[in-house]
Amino acid sequence: MIYTLSNSVEFDTVVLPIYQEENPENEFISSIINKEIFTPKLKEIYVYINPINFNRTIVVGLGEKDKIDANKFMMAIAKAAKEAKKLEIGKYSVVAENDDKLSVIDKLSAIVQATSLGIYEFNKYKSDKKEYTTEISIQFEGEITTELTETLKEEINIAEGILIARDLVNEPANVIYPESLANRVVELSEKIGVEVEVFDHEQIQEMGMDALWSVGKGSCYLPRLIVMRHMGNPDSDEVFGIIGKGLTYDTGGYSIKPTNSMANMKSDMGGAGAVIGLMNAVVKNNIKQNVIVVVAAAENAISENSYKPGDIIGSMGGKTIEVLNTDAEGRLTLVDAVTYAIRKENVTKIIDIATLTGAVLVALGDVATGVVTNDDEFYSQLVEASTTTDEKFWQLPVFEEYKELIKGKIADLANSNTNRLAGSITAGLFIGEFVEDKPWLHLDIAGTGWAERTISEMTPKGATGTPIKTLYNLLK
Ligand code: BES
Ligand code: ZN
Ligand code: ZN
Repeated sequence: MIYTLSNSVEFDTVVLPIYQEENPENEFISSIINKEIFTPKLKEIYVYINPINFNRTIVVGLGEKDKIDANKFMMAIAKAAKEAKKLEIGKYSVVAENDDKLSVIDKLSAIVQATSLGIYEFNKYKSDKKEYTTEISIQFEGEITTELTETLKEEINIAEGILIARDLVNEPANVIYPESLANRVVELSEKIGVEVEVFDHEQIQEMGMDALWSVGKGSCYLPRLIVMRHMGNPDSDEVFGIIGKGLTYDTGGYSIKPTNSMANMKSDMGGAGAVIGLMNAVVKNNIKQNVIVVVAAAENAISENSYKPGDIIGSMGGKTIEVLNTDAEGRLTLVDAVTYAIRKENVTKIIDIATLTGAVLVALGDVATGVVTNDDEFYSQLVEASTTTDEKFWQLPVFEEYKELIKGKIADLANSNTNRLAGSITAGLFIGEFVEDKPWLHLDIAGTGWAERTISEMTPKGATGTPIKTLYNLLK
C-alpha cells in the first residue's frame, strides 16, 4: 500500500465520502441522491461511472453528520476500500476535506487504518490468490504540512505493526513454532533496528523458569524466551514490560482439548503477535518511552516428556505450583516471563497480553478485552487510550475471596480451580501473584485476538492484532 497527500485529483477513480444531508457538486451524483436511487446512509456504496470518460466515483455514505466520528468514518472508508479491491482498482484518490466534524488529520489516519487493515486477507496459501496493492492519494484543499506528513508516516507504521501481528498469528503451527517465531522476531528487529535477545531451552532452565519449561518441554519444538528492548527515554526510570503469551499451539496437553476447541489453537500466540507488532510501531515511530517486550514462546503438546496433571513445578519467582490442568498453561509461561522482566530487565510497570481463558469469551464475547489490574489509575489510562480506537476493554473485579480459588493444596498455588468459578479472574490473579506490587494490567484477548466472524469492517476473520492501537496510544 502506498499513500500520498495531494491537493488535486490524481487518479481516474475517486472515493467520495458524503454525509446524508450533503449535496455533492457532481450533478449526476447529486441527482442520483435527490431521486433516492442512492441514500448516503453510513457505509452505503454507489459506484458512478462517468459515461464520457469512464472515470469512476465510489460514493460512500457517512450517514448523518451529527452522528459522525472518526471510527464511523473509518468503517465507511473500509467499505469503500473493499469495493475498490473487488473492482481491482490499483490507484485511486480519496477525498478527505476538512469539515466541522472531522479534520484532515482525523480523516487521513482513518483512511490508512481502514485501507491497510480493512482489505487484509491471509491468502498466501491459496493457489488462485490475486496480488493486490493500491496506491492511494489522499486529497484535500490546504497546505500539506509536516504535521500531516508525519501523521501519515506514523499511521502507516502502526498499521504495518498490526499486519505483522496478524500474519504471525495466522501462520499455522507447523510454520510458526518457538524457534521459527524467534527467528522471525530477530529478522524483524534487525530490519527496524531494535535490540533483540533470544534465550533457548537450556538458558530457560538455567534461569530457573521451571513453569515455562514444564509447559514447553513436551514438544519437539522446544521453548524460547524472546526479548526486544527499546530504550527510547534514557532520562526516565520508567520501563514498561510488555509481555505476550506465545503458545504457538495449545493442544491442552494431557488435559487435552476436544477437536472443535483445538482447531484454532494456532491463535494462542495472539498476545505475542500483538507485542511484536506493537514494537514495530513503537520503534519505527521512535516513541520516547522505555519498552521491553518479552514473549514466552512454547508449544503445549503431548509426549512422554510432557508435564502431567498433578505435577508440582517451580517458578523463577520462587513460588511452587500444583498443575491441576495442563490446559491452563498460559499463566505458567507468563509468570516466568513476568519475573524475568522484573528481575533481569528492571521493568517498573507491567502489561501482559494473553489469549488466556475461554471464560472471557463467555463473559464478554468477541467484543471486549477482559482486564484484571492492581492499579485503577493505570486502567483509566488504558481506557482513555482506547477511546480513539475501535478496541474495547472491560475491567473484571478482584475481590479478596477470589484469591482462595488459586491456592494450592500441597503447593503455594494451583494453576486452575476445578469448579471453573470466575475463570478469567482467577487466571489473571494467578499472574498477579508474580508482579511484586508493580502497577500491572492483564489483558485477556481470548475473545478479541481472533475473530470467528467479521465483527466490523476493520476486522477480518482470523487474527485481529488487538490491542496494538490502544497500547500504542498508551505508550505515546
Ligand atoms: N488458550 C486457552 C484459552 C482460549 C480458549 C483461547 C478459547 C482462545 C479461545 C487456554 O490455555 C485454556 O485452555 N484455558 C483453559 C483454562 C482452564 C483449564 C482453567 C480454559 O479456558 O478452558
Ligand atoms: Zn490451554
Ligand atoms: Zn492456551
